[in-house]
Amino acid sequence: MTQRPPAAVGQRIEEVDTPALILDLDAFEKNLDTLTRAVAGRARVRAHAKTHKCPEIAKRQIAAGAVGVCCQKVSEAEALVEGGVRDVLVSNEVVGPAKIERLAALSRRAQLGVCVDNLDNLRQIAATGARLDVYIELEVGMGRCGIAPGEPALALAREIVRSSSLRFGGLQAYHGRAQHVRSMAERRACIAGAADAVRATKRVLEKEGIATPLVTGAGSGTFMFEVESGAWDEIQPGSYIFMDVDYARNEWAAPLPRFQHALFVLATVMSRPSAGAAIVDAGLKASSVDSGMPTVWGKEALRYAKASDEHGFIEGREPPPLGEKLLLVPGHCDPTVNLYDWYVCVRRGIVEALWPITARGALL
Ligand SMILES: Cc1ncc(COP(=O)(O)O)c(C=O)c1O
Repeated sequence: MTQRPPAAVGQRIEEVDTPALILDLDAFEKNLDTLTRAVAGRARVRAHAKTHKCPEIAKRQIAAGAVGVCCQKVSEAEALVEGGVRDVLVSNEVVGPAKIERLAALSRRAQLGVCVDNLDNLRQIAATGARLDVYIELEVGMGRCGIAPGEPALALAREIVRSSSLRFGGLQAYHGRAQHVRSMAERRACIAGAADAVRATKRVLEKEGIATPLVTGAGSGTFMFEVESGAWDEIQPGSYIFMDVDYARNEWAAPLPRFQHALFVLATVMSRPSAGAAIVDAGLKASSVDSGMPTVWGKEALRYAKASDEHGFIEGREPPPLGEKLLLVPGHCDPTVNLYDWYVCVRRGIVEALWPITARGALL
């Protein structure tokens, strides 16, 4: 069941009920523009919708130049297609008959891609006869899904090109671990290693007469390294639109542009138990803490010290009074978004729109 929106269009932000997920439209639009300018047509952008789970945002990313979006789950792809998005890459493996059937059904409604790293799984996908773009996922240093670069890709590529319904999309090489490595130099080195793996794999396929149409990958912490390497044709940044506390802790310097915080959790002080403490109504069910605590926006003297289910503990010499509203910057944007049904879109303090997070909880 979708929860009622915490706000109405035209309200002042102070009137919004809490906890609420706030999207600062000026900062969000600036982030869209910053990415477009940084990449400057040197690679295609396929923005990652796992971050926002919202067709309204996907359509704005496409209007800003993205060729389409990625997502991680078939049910996310369904929500995006239902919301009017026509080009979606499931940048993940889809395993098991139930999911594969739904993927095949969705491929009749939109341009759809999927990743593979296993021959049996690939054969099950091919057996559906679905028209899909299939990408071979390489393991390039993250230690998650994907096959080893080089020879192992060959058997998968042969099987894809042999299929009458599948199209060989190319390679996916995403170095997730590199995204939050703090130093620019270390992040650059991670991507240089991944680029070598991509080139080596392309050479192996070429020797067999199989051309790689496209290489896709990259996130908000490294995408300019992928672009500058020349080994990627398409980048998949997601978090850049929101910019959470964890990403803000990275070292940011050219060639990576700096993005602005655009996503906030609005919280209310619900108790003042002692002189130096305030309790807000946003705990770990309102802001994900897996990558660290939220920060209090614009109030450096206040510290969000810890979270329990429904409560956040704010410390500081002069904590805000009962009833005051605070904007929190989430530690990690993706899992925070998955806690809400609505973006309360605010411009200069006024609620301009409410966008439903239709892929919220879409984990299948
Ligand atoms: C395959 C893939 N591509 C791109 C991204 C986007 O990363 P970010 O949100 O760090 O930009 C992710 C995030 O986990 C991912 O798994």
